[in-house]
Parts: sequence; C-alpha cells; structure tokens
Amino acid sequence: MNTDRLTAAWGALRARSATAILVLSFTCVIALSLVSSELHALRGRRNAAPAPFDEVISERAEDLFRQGARTFREDTFGDEKFWGDTLKLHLAIGGARFGGVGPGVSPATALAVGLKVDVDKVPQPILNALKAGTVDLNDPANTLALLDAKAVVGVTAIRGAGGRVESMGVQCSLCHSTVDDSFAPGIGRRLDGWANRDLNVGAIIALSPDLSSVATLLQVDQSTVRSVLNSWGPGKFDAALLLDGKAFRPDGKSAATLIPPAFGLAGQNLHTFTGWGSVPYWNAFVANLEMHGSGTFVDPRLNDPERFPVAARAGFFDVRPTGDHVDKVTSKLAALQFYQLAIPAPAPPKGSFDERAAERGETLFTGAARCSTCHVPPLFSEPGWAMHTGAEIGIDDFQADRSPDRRYRTTPLKGLWSHQKGGFYHDGRFATLTAVVQHYNRVFNLRLTDSEMNELVEYLKSL
Ligand code: HEC
Ligand code: HEC
Repeated sequence: MNTDRLTAAWGALRARSATAILVLSFTCVIALSLVSSELHALRGRRNAAPAPFDEVISERAEDLFRQGARTFREDTFGDEKFWGDTLKLHLAIGGARFGGVGPGVSPATALAVGLKVDVDKVPQPILNALKAGTVDLNDPANTLALLDAKAVVGVTAIRGAGGRVESMGVQCSLCHSTVDDSFAPGIGRRLDGWANRDLNVGAIIALSPDLSSVATLLQVDQSTVRSVLNSWGPGKFDAALLLDGKAFRPDGKSAATLIPPAFGLAGQNLHTFTGWGSVPYWNAFVANLEMHGSGTFVDPRLNDPERFPVAARAGFFDVRPTGDHVDKVTSKLAALQFYQLAIPAPAPPKGSFDERAAERGETLFTGAARCSTCHVPPLFSEPGWAMHTGAEIGIDDFQADRSPDRRYRTTPLKGLWSHQKGGFYHDGRFATLTAVVQHYNRVFNLRLTDSEMNELVEYLKSL
C-alpha cells in the first residue's frame, strides 16, 4: 500500500515537473530568440563599416590625447635657453664635479625641495639599490642618474661630453604632477594633474648662480630677486611677478599663489584663480612667459604700462620667435588642451569622510548655505562667466586687481580632498576647509551651527 501511494506521488511529481520543464524551455526559447535577435542587430551594426568621418574623429581624439600627455610630461618648449643658458640652473644641479658650480644637488636636497621621482622610470639597478638602502642620497651623481633616466618629474637635464651637465629645462608636470609615494616619500607612481604642493619653486630658482636677467627685467638687484623667490615657500609660484613686478601684498605677505590642480577643468569657461583665459590661452601664456619656451604669444591687454609695467617694457604682449628660434609652442596647444580636459578630478578614498554627515552637508550646500548659487553642481563653478569681485566673497582685491578682469573665478571644487596641503583660496589664506566654511558663515551671515558647518566640510571632502 505504501508503495502504491509512493508510486502515485512520484507519478504526480513527474507530471508536474514535465509541465515545469516545458514552461521553462518555452521561456528559454523566447528569451534566447530575443537575445539572438538583439545580438544579430548588434552584429549587423558592428559588421557595417563605421562612417568614414567617425573614424577620422576617433583617430584624431587618440592622437591628441597621446601627444598632449607627452607634451604635458616631457616638453620643455625650448625653455632650456632660459633655465639653462640664462639662469644657469644646470650649473648648480651638477655642481663643480660635473662642470658646474658649488656642491651640486643631491637626491636628498631634490626631494626636500619637493621634486618627485617617477618610480616607473627609475632603472631596475637603481631601484634595487634604493630598496637595499645602498644609494648615497647625498651624492649629486645619483640625482644626475635619475635625471638621465627621465625619472625626475618635470625636469630635463641635457648632458654633454664627459658627463658635463650642459643645460636643463622644465615641463608642465614640474608643478602640475606629483607621485603617490608608493615606493617612498616623494618616489612613486605618477599622478598627472595633481598640484605639487611640496614643490618649492622659489627655492629651486634661487639656486641659480645668475639671476641677473630677472633682476634686469624687474629693475632690482639680484639679492632682492633672491629674497622674493625665498618668500614664496612650498606649493606656490607667482605667475604675475614678471608682469607687474609686485612681489608682496599690502599686508607684507608674499604675492605668490598656490599651484592649482590641472584636473577637472573640462566644462569650465575661464581658468586660473583670476580667470585670465581658458586652458589654451593660459598654456600659451605659461609656455612663453613663465617657462620661457620659444613660441608665439599675443595679448594686447598686457600692453598697459600702468597695470603691467614689466610686461609692457619687455613686450610680453606680443612675443614672436626671433632669430634662430622657432615656434615650439603653438603646434602643441590643441593636444595639450585636449589632454588636460581629459584628466578627471580624483575620487576621494573610501573612509576619508563621514558619508552620513556629507549627505546632510549636500542639502546645506544646495540649500540654506547657498553655496551652489556660485558652485553649481556638477561643475561646481558657474556655467557662463564665473567671475566675482573680492567684496562678493568677502576678501580683498589685491590678486584680482593683478588680472585683466579684476575678479576671482569661482573655483571648481571636485577633488578638493587631494590638495588640502597649503590651504584654500588662491593664496592659501584659509588653512582648512573648516576655516573656509567659517569665513562664508561670517561673510554671508548664514547662522550655521557648528555641526552644520562640520557637515558642509564633510560634503566638501566627498567631492
Ligand atoms: C612653476 C610652476 C608651474 C609650471 C611649470 C606650470 N604651471 Fe600651471 N599654474 C601654476 C600656478 C601657480 C598657477 C595659478 C596661476 C594663477 O591662477 O594666477 C597655474 C595655473 C594653471 C592652470 C589653471 C588651473 C585652474 O584652476 O584654472 C592650468 C590649466 C595650468 N596652470 C596648466 C599648465 C600647463 C599646461 C603648463 C605647461 C605649459 C603649466 N601649467 C606650467 C604653476 C605652474
Ligand atoms: C558669490 C559666489 C560664491 C559663493 C556663494 C560661494 N563661493 Fe566658494 N568660491 C567662490 C570664489 C570666487 C572662490 C575663489 C576664491 C579664491 O581663490 O580666492 C571660491 C572658493 C571656494 C573654496 C576654495 C577652493 C580652493 O581650491 O581653494 C571652497 C572650498 C569654497 N569656495 C566653498 C564654498 C562653500 C562651502 C560655499 C557655501 C557656504 C561657497 N563656497 C559659496 C565663489 C563663491
């Protein structure tokens, strides 16, 4: 009897599973035919040759990207004529042993002034010796070995007969790249676009044994130039010094600004703290007037003896390659712009901010604290003309007045977490994000509580 029941139950089960299997297979067949028709359509699209002009566009995009990265990292635009031939900085780097002057720059000194070493470019034997701790970090010969391997980010040394250092040049990446310290402090993998806030540009230029050209340009003596350079400190540079000759603010502090990141700039109209122009404007400006490469640069706004006496005297409003110089800048501007616009702002590391507080901070940012009236997400600056007087953001006009529009540009805020060293605002006047928020709370009379200000800060750290 038991067996009978069992057989009956088994039979029922089989009948049910047969139905189930049937339904399932049916569903599968339909699903499969849907998938295959989708695949078919896709394959059809893939088989068809891409529109010829689409191919032209994508090849151009790849070319520009590759060329732009190379220019950003490696191109000196012929500026060794300035950093080497004129400033003779190369003599200080090599030192007397390599045909220069003085003791030379040891790896320890190079790292101390914030120069970075790209570990992917360090030759294996040196890497092994570094690991074993057998590299003499006080020997300038080792700096030269790293320079020869193109491992010092943003600096090129040119060597001649008998190992003499004959000249040197600098690249964009000197100031706008750093490394992730994955090997050791100052030695790691390259991070293009990140501001090098350790780099003491002033101290590096002050190593030059001959600052007479800058002194002549500014109509001061060399020791004045040297003291101005030494007033900048790490992470700063003064891009307007050679235009207006102003080295100090009215309060006596240095007129240098922070080195900003060169990432997250796509979609922004104007660049630099005071909105001098767009990326290609500024790249031509920097390559010609700051790095002193060999190129063409035109800006009649600088032909103003009142506002830009140094630039007006020196003719910086109309720079053309003369004599045996050829234009090594103009042909690279398109690719250089393309590459910079491709560099995204880096996302904050997990756990680097309080997520729940950041969510509440976002509500404040776009609501009661009114931050998003200027810092419009997701650009975090105004689409359009993002320029403000000092009074509008509760600060002085000194730096704004050194620029054509006499205004400050609303800084895009993505990736803020990655450049906290050196502080915030163009001159780093606010040491922390908390200080920035307290400033706005006071100036805009926002009446935020301490915990609300903290939530805003956590949100800023999350961008
Ligand atoms: C010696 C250091 C240094 C070098 C080299 C340098 N820059 Fe800069 N860069 C700065 C400083 C400082 C600023 C801020 C200037 C200002 O706003 O007044 C700046 C600003 C910028 C900005 C504007 C960023 C923003 O937030 O809008 C871009 C883009 C830029 N640089 C790209 C370049 C490129 C490309 C090169 C190479 C052609 C280059 N820089 C070389 C120091 C440097
Ligand atoms: C009226 C327009 C305006 C408003 C409103 C505004 N900002 Fe700004 N913000 C600016 C400008 C302009 C700058 C650049 C100031 C400078 O570099 O000196 C700036 C700079 C900053 C910076 C520094 C970025 C850096 O890299 O140094 C932070 C952070 C910031 N704002 C956050 C906020 C927050 C938070 C609020 C709301 C409480 C806010 N802003 C409201 C215009 C504005």
